[in-house]
Amino acid sequence: MSLRIALSHALRRLADPHPRVTRHTRTVRTLADLKKALGWKADPLLTGDHLHGYDNELDLNDRRLRDAQVIGAACANTDARNLLEIGTAHGQMTALMAQNAPGGIVHTVNIPPEEIADGGKRVTFAPSRDDIGRYYRQLGLGNIKQIFANTARWEPDFGPANPPIDVAFIDGCHDADFVYNDTRKVLARCRPGSIILWHDFCPPLAPAHDWIEHVCLGVDRLLRERLIRGRILHLQDSWVGLYRVPQPKAPAAG
Ligand SMILES: C[S@@+](CC[C@H](N)C(=O)[O-])C[C@H]1O[C@@H](n2cnc3c(N)ncnc32)[C@H](O)[C@@H]1O
Repeated sequence: MSLRIALSHALRRLADPHPRVTRHTRTVRTLADLKKALGWKADPLLTGDHLHGYDNELDLNDRRLRDAQVIGAACANTDARNLLEIGTAHGQMTALMAQNAPGGIVHTVNIPPEEIADGGKRVTFAPSRDDIGRYYRQLGLGNIKQIFANTARWEPDFGPANPPIDVAFIDGCHDADFVYNDTRKVLARCRPGSIILWHDFCPPLAPAHDWIEHVCLGVDRLLRERLIRGRILHLQDSWVGLYRVPQPKAPAAG
């Protein structure tokens, strides 16, 4: 690479630390538009007062509801049988996924609290063992399997049949390396058409919040290394990026 090209790449990176995310992200204004873009018909089931809660300015513009719309719609529209969540916390999103994929099993992974120091730096929440999954347990949902593991060492394994992942929601440690590695592991267990959702993916807010910046950097690296390609959809005011695993590229003729 010539010095001039290297310099221009470096300048571009300074101006925008995740240029590929910027280039590949398509923002849609409404859930109806998201459904149109993906050819989806079903509306998600959205229950729970917490979806309308407001703690601080991070929840402005119905952020929690927008997040739930994207994740619920992904589960409700894909006939998902094998679902994965990385980062259970209280289990509110676990419950939403399970309710929107009643024919599937949601595997949800959370680091055991005693290992939290090994779990990466940008960990926004460190619940106790009793608190992990408390919300979905109270609802008595039967299609959830709790896994206690640090994803730095965990490999997805879903029993003897080990089916591919239909929908994955990645919301564990937000360090760029974790986002990158968690997604790599997920991708290795996906099929064409699988849906990957990243939480804390919101390019317009990346300059304001270090952990959102890191999620965007992790996704940018996946694009740079061509582990993912094509568009990432982002519902405006949500903090979720949605990627549909494409069909493999046909080999070049001749
Ligand atoms: C932001 S919270 C998840 C919120 C949840 N997905 C929801 O939407 O309700 C992040 C969770 O990831 C867990 N976590 C952090 N680092 C992890 C790691 N390396 N492996 C597994 N879980 C991790 C934290 O303990 C925390 O409960």
